[in-house]
Amino acid sequence: MRIAIGNDHIALELKKVIVDHLSAKGYEIIDLGTHSAERYDYPVAGEAVARAVVSGEAEKGVLICGTGVGISLAANKVKGIRACVCSDPYTARLSKQHNNTNILAFGSRVVGSELAKMILDEWLTAVFEGGRHQRRLDMISGIEERQGV
Ligand code: RB5
Repeated sequence: MRIAIGNDHIALELKKVIVDHLSAKGYEIIDLGTHSAERYDYPVAGEAVARAVVSGEAEKGVLICGTGVGISLAANKVKGIRACVCSDPYTARLSKQHNNTNILAFGSRVVGSELAKMILDEWLTAVFEGGRHQRRLDMISGIEERQGV
């Protein structure tokens, strides 16, 4: 599975840990940056990863900034993206089973590296349950359509 990953300068070190973790598990990683510790605006990474996911270049995306909030807000502006911020494995699993999230975000100032790995592992192995959940996701897509996004 190919995973696109993006981050701001605050999350550079945690991003490296996560890339190593996912690579060791056999995932193919597309690292869309940032790659340096210089100040970097999180919407750039959020949009880049979101576009990689909707284009099919990557199956899933991972975003990391200080809190995970700004970078997920940016990603969610791209039509077809369902990104959520998770600070615990339970929410991460349910976000896939019920909401079919295609991007997972978290904050490097919020979660430590071991918890971040656990959150990601839970999310990556969870499976969307469809059924009534699909109908609700269709309702969310309807909002996008009515917005003319
Ligand atoms: C950068 O200072 C910080 O605002 C960013 O990493 C993130 O937390 C935004 O949501």
